[in-house]
Formats: sequence, C-alpha cells, structure tokens
Amino acid sequence: MKILAGNKKGNVSLIIIKNKKLPKTLTKDQKAFLELQNYKGEGNIFIPYGNVYFVSIEESSYPFCNTLRDAFFNAINALKKLNIKTLSINIENTKEAREICEGILLGNYSFETFKEKKSETTLEEIYLNSTKVSQKDLEKVILEANVIISSVNYARELINTPPMQATPDFIAKDAQRLAKELDLECKILDTKGLEKEKMGAFLAVAKASSNPPFLVHLSYKPKNSKNAPKFVFVGKGLTYDSGGLSLKPGDYMTTMKADKSGACAVLGIMQSVAKLGLEAEVHGILGLAENMIGGNAYKPDDILISRSGKSIEVRNTDAEGRLVLADCLSYASDLEPHYLLDLATLTGACVVALGEYTTGVMGYNSKLKNSFIESANQAGELSAILPFNPYLQKLYKSEVADLCNIPSSRYGSAISAGMFLGEFIPQNLQDKWLHLDIAGPAYVEKSWGSNPFGASGAGVRACIEFIKNNIKEK
Ligand code: BES
Ligand code: ZN
Ligand code: ZN
Repeated sequence: MKILAGNKKGNVSLIIIKNKKLPKTLTKDQKAFLELQNYKGEGNIFIPYGNVYFVSIEESSYPFCNTLRDAFFNAINALKKLNIKTLSINIENTKEAREICEGILLGNYSFETFKEKKSETTLEEIYLNSTKVSQKDLEKVILEANVIISSVNYARELINTPPMQATPDFIAKDAQRLAKELDLECKILDTKGLEKEKMGAFLAVAKASSNPPFLVHLSYKPKNSKNAPKFVFVGKGLTYDSGGLSLKPGDYMTTMKADKSGACAVLGIMQSVAKLGLEAEVHGILGLAENMIGGNAYKPDDILISRSGKSIEVRNTDAEGRLVLADCLSYASDLEPHYLLDLATLTGACVVALGEYTTGVMGYNSKLKNSFIESANQAGELSAILPFNPYLQKLYKSEVADLCNIPSSRYGSAISAGMFLGEFIPQNLQDKWLHLDIAGPAYVEKSWGSNPFGASGAGVRACIEFIKNNIKEK
C-alpha cells in the first residue's frame, strides 16, 4: 500500500466530517442512504452511491489531541477490507496531511509473522489531493511519515517477536544489519567486553541465562558534524524478564518479552535519524540481557560493583532494569552528550500512576522535561512528568552498600526508580538527562489509539520529534 501526492480520483473518495457537519453537495441517493442508515455524522460509514467514505472527527477538549491519526487508523483497517484498488483524500494543510499519513501507516501494521493466514487487501494506492498544499510539500510529508512510521513498525515487530527467537544475540545481530544498511558505526561488547568495562551490575543480571548479554553502541554522524548537537539514547533491552530468583508470578510474567521495548525503540530512532539524514550526532546504546533463574543466578543479598564504582545491594532481582541501565548510562555519559535520554519499561508503578497509554517523563531539568512533552504531543504520543523529590531519594539507603536496588517504600516507586538511575548520571550531565518510563504504552494487550494489539513502538515518534525540535537550538 502506497500513499501518493497528486490529483487523482480513487475508487473510493474519502471525506472528513468535522463536528457532525455533513457536506452540502450530497446527491439525492446519498442523502436517502444516510437517512436509511440513521447516520447523523458520528462514526465512519461507506456510502455505495458515488463510492464515498465518511470519516467523522470531533473537536476534542483534551489538551492532547490525536483525533485525525486515530480516526484514520480505524478507517484504513475498515477500508482494507473493501474490494478496491485506490482511495483518494482531500487535504487542507500539511499538519492534516502528516496526521492522516501517520494514522494510515500506523494502521497498516499488525503482528502476523507467526500466523498461517495473513490478512490480505486489494488496496494499492492512496492519493492525497489538495488545492491548498503544493505537490512538493505533500511529497515531503509523505516521505517523512513513511520513514518514521516504518521505524515505529520495525520496533513493533522486534518487540512482538517471541523471546525464544529475539534473544540478546538476535537483537545485536539485527543492530549490526541495520548499521551496515545505513552506514552507521556499530560497536558491540560481549561478555568479555562488559567485564573489561567493569559493568558488574549489568553482568549480574545476565548471569543465569544461557543467552549471553550484549551492549550495542550505534552511532550516526551527520554530513556537517561541526555544530551538530549530540544526542545519546539508551534503551533497556531485557529480551525476557522472568524476575530472576525474585520470580514473577505467572500472570505478571506474560508480556515480559516486551521488556526489550526501550532498546527496540532506540533501534527505530537510529533508523529514522539515518534515513532522514538529520543534522545531529546521534548515538544509540542498547543494554541487552535476559533475566532468568538458575544455579548461578544473581541473588537478593548480593552486592554488585557498578561501572561507576558505586556498590549496589540487591534486595530484589526483579528490579533488574535499573542495574543494566546504571552501567549503560555510565558508559553513555562518557560520550559527553548535549542530550541524554533513556527509554525503559522500568516499573509497573508507572503504569499504575499514569495508566497504560502514557510515558512517564523524569529528570532534574524542568525545561527539558516540558520540551520533551511538547515534542511527544506533536508526534502523537502521550507523556507526563513524574516529579523527583529529595525525600524519595533517601529511600535507597543501604546498610551494607552505597545504594540498594529497591527503595524502602513501595509508594512512588516509578519516581524512585528514576532517581536510582539519576545516581549514575555525572553531575555535569544531570540537567541534560531525561528518563522515559514506557512500561505503560510499550505493550498493551488490546488495540488503542493508533496502535494495534501488542507492541506500540512507544518513544520512536516522540524522540525523533524531540531531535528535530532541538537541532536548531543547542
Ligand atoms: N520490567 C519490569 C517492569 C514492568 C512491569 C514493565 C509491567 C512493564 C509492565 C521491571 O523490571 C520490574 O519488574 N519492576 C519491578 C520493580 C520492583 C521489584 C521494585 C516492578 O515494577 O514491580
Ligand atoms: Zn523486573
Ligand atoms: Zn524488567
């Protein structure tokens, strides 16, 4: 299925109905059909007279608005079932064009790799027509949407891939393939490399698994790298989180293949950055490991020495993401970035606090947090600030080490987990760092908004927008 700019009429013409206002140019047959269907401008409907498809949207009073994307996500899933080859849509402006393209492309993905019977469609071409936007501008919007949403769908596919296949080695190899394809630099640390880096926290998490851990470091340099700002994205890549010896109950373990969502989002970000040729230096760091049980598993009571030198008392092996990230963030800090962001399915508490659909944004710099939320909104992703405070930081006191890997109170534990990570960010980078807890939106077992069942690719769109918005400044 392709989206094209150009004034062509499709087999079906799509019309957007805003605030229930029906077009004045309806034919007699169309009017009679709508009356028969008792259609009052709410919901989507196919009118067989003249082959018209209405997509209805309503102005929303929410500060966050995704109406067009969500409406086209639904519309494309219905239209793909019709026996048509082409579809045309009239476009008013580039913002509308962007949201429509994104909704269509986000709706054109579902995880079917393991199904014998794949869904089929006859729909081949979608024409964006406009008297108000030039063909050139439309083409630019379509190209960019294609790049970014194919990265979202790439991340979705990797996250959905079952843990028996998507091991740390599998993801690292895919990163290598991506690097080759897009001419990125790719450095991979295996167990020996991690030992050399003294990543005692990361290594402990991976110990019991027969699938060894890897740290992947991808880098992209723009053509004109002189004044380009430097971004580093760090992703939690637990290809499976069984909880370790602090084993998760069965119900909570299912879906933990998605604990690699942060790392997969980082791969998606790197892919788009390179394909769009953005004027920024961008690094992607993936902490890939499996949190399993076994005779050599790390244990509650162990004391780990992290790369930064800080010792960590383990009291719960299910709080493993922060251990992997502690070492990855310390490694990332050495790159001295202007912007340092980590993406992680870090805590169930974040889902409790914000609901399934919203990313938790944390850090020490209010301006940076707000600017990220602005970017996420523009890109169509929900996010909200969870504020740090010094009282929660005190909960990490350990009697036997510098820090404990779980706080002494379970209240506010999305924030305290973020503050644990903050302990591994050097002072000079604290106001450049953001922690994004994507535990809620990364993987939802039902379709929502512009997302199908399963992985959403949360973080990819928001982070690309964030980079674009910060290229001019620095
Ligand atoms: N990967 C989980 C967090 C998670 C939970 C992600 C639900 C997505 C959905 C993480 O490693 C974890 O288990 N965190 C514990 C921390 C606790 C032991 C302090 C949690 O949130 O319960
Ligand atoms: Zn865990
Ligand atoms: Zn985890």
